[in-house]
Amino acid sequence: MRTAAVLALVASVLTTTEGLTIQQRQNGPRIVGLQTERRPVLNPAHRDKLRRRGTLAVSLDNEETLYFINATIGTPPKSLRLHLDTGSSDLWVNTPSSQLCRESSQPCKFAGTYTANSSSTYEYIGSYFNISYVDGSGAAGDYVSDTVSFGGQKLDRLQFGIGYSSTNAQGILGIGYALNEVQVGRAGKPAYNNLPAAMAADGLIQSNAYSLWLNDLSSNTGSILFGGVDTEKYTGDLQTLPVLAERGVFAEFLITLTSLKVAGTTVADNMALGVLLDTGSSLTYLPDAVVQDIYNDVGAQYDSEQGAAYVPCSLARNTSTMDFTFSSPTISVDMNELVLDLVTSSGTRPTFQNGVPACLFGIAPAGSGTNVLGDTFLRSAYVVYDLDNNQISLAPTKFNSTASNVVEIGTGANSVPGATLVANPVAATAGVSNPSLSNGLGLGSSAGNTFAPVLSAIVAVSVALVSGVMIIL
Ligand SMILES: *[C@@H]1O[C@H](CO)[C@@H](O)[C@H](O)[C@H]1NC(C)=O
Ligand SMILES: *[C@@H]1O[C@H](CO)[C@@H](O)[C@H](O)[C@H]1NC(C)=O
Ligand SMILES: *[C@@H]1O[C@H](CO)[C@@H](O)[C@H](O)[C@H]1NC(C)=O
Ligand SMILES: *[C@@H]1O[C@H](CO)[C@@H](O)[C@H](O)[C@H]1NC(C)=O
Ligand SMILES: *[C@@H]1O[C@H](CO)[C@@H](O)[C@H](O)[C@H]1NC(C)=O
Repeated sequence: MRTAAVLALVASVLTTTEGLTIQQRQNGPRIVGLQTERRPVLNPAHRDKLRRRGTLAVSLDNEETLYFINATIGTPPKSLRLHLDTGSSDLWVNTPSSQLCRESSQPCKFAGTYTANSSSTYEYIGSYFNISYVDGSGAAGDYVSDTVSFGGQKLDRLQFGIGYSSTNAQGILGIGYALNEVQVGRAGKPAYNNLPAAMAADGLIQSNAYSLWLNDLSSNTGSILFGGVDTEKYTGDLQTLPVLAERGVFAEFLITLTSLKVAGTTVADNMALGVLLDTGSSLTYLPDAVVQDIYNDVGAQYDSEQGAAYVPCSLARNTSTMDFTFSSPTISVDMNELVLDLVTSSGTRPTFQNGVPACLFGIAPAGSGTNVLGDTFLRSAYVVYDLDNNQISLAPTKFNSTASNVVEIGTGANSVPGATLVANPVAATAGVSNPSLSNGLGLGSSAGNTFAPVLSAIVAVSVALVSGVMIIL
């Protein structure tokens, strides 16, 4: 595994705003809103590659975090930064005594750690917490419970994991389906209420549903609203699609992609492809043949080392879009959202052999793995994840919106305000054959990637992402 040490972290523009905004009034709407911060990602393609070895949406590299939020855990409260992840379902944190955190470079310091016996509200649950990858890396230790707060909003006895052994310097806040928790898939135990489910159970929000607005690549701000929708952060109407079940159960945010256009040209039509909505993935991964066509259309050059492709950075000034249709709606992604700026460790951009500056392209081949709509897609969409109704509501995002009109998500059917059910949504016939209910064993190994390398003409590959990618919420 190549380490991040050879890569320079450039343009580390961290925001220092008060991150958490709680909107809750005595008799007003029950909504918990959080802002997030972005951190630069060193090399998103490399990071995703590590991540995709296993099934869980857990990143393995220390600094390569995208979207994160602040929380406190324990009594007295201990501050932690957590990587927000719709692709996994467990919250877990590092502890200072792990081999990783004891390293002299203090890798866990920036995100914080938790010491069970230093908290008077800590309760031990069991020693079967274990998130792991096909290559054996991951985090393992105890499941415990303690008081967890987000900006003063408190959850008592929330269950989470402690990584007594860990390969990830930052804790993860997985907010997916409870069925995808590792205690279900690996320890064969019943699901527990993870963070969004616990918020609903405790009455902080009315139902287990939340909205994510990531905003655009050049922006630092975004938000997550548990139990609410901000109608000023999208255009048109929210349209509601069913989540696809896997083996009869709902465990992941899979919906059906039906067509794809690049600059007005149809790349794939009449598809019925299951795709995973995953904030923990930097890039978007689609079937190899589809990706090959996209690369031909935009002149991207594939680098098999990175498992990703490069385009001339000037493509960011192209005003065309990539259009993703899901029965309905269509989400258009501006070309500039797909062109990720990179610099070498010496501060220069990688170039093609002819000297033209090269940028990373935001779409990569899925190979034998799951098709994933990662952050390069998700920034262009406002997404409501309704776990109670097994539905996803989508609308085109409104970039840089400073207005806000937060409305509450209620209970029961049609609880997402203003959302319209899509008539006759297409069911997936492909892309759902890799259910990952086995938690860690479902995605298939990266060895199965059959994508044919096009060209490998990049001069510099030691890169750091500059302008994009921090967190938001
Ligand atoms: C998170 O906490 C860090 C460290 O205290 C602080 O610098 C940062 O501004 C906070 N961010 C948010 C989004 O609250
Ligand atoms: C906490 O303290 C108790 C009592 O000293 C000890 O048995 C236990 O192993 C400690 N737990 C951890 C996680 O360090
Ligand atoms: C976690 O699970 C992996 C894979 O099954 C196993 O190799 C590893 O030993 C386990 N770790 C712990 C600490 O139990
Ligand atoms: C934008 O990119 C598309 C796809 O590569 C291409 O067909 C189109 O000509 C480009 N437009 C401009 C103005 O360069
Ligand atoms: C959003 O704001 C950023 C920062 O000011 C700016 O660079 C970007 O172009 C804006 N995006 C849109 C779509 O207007």
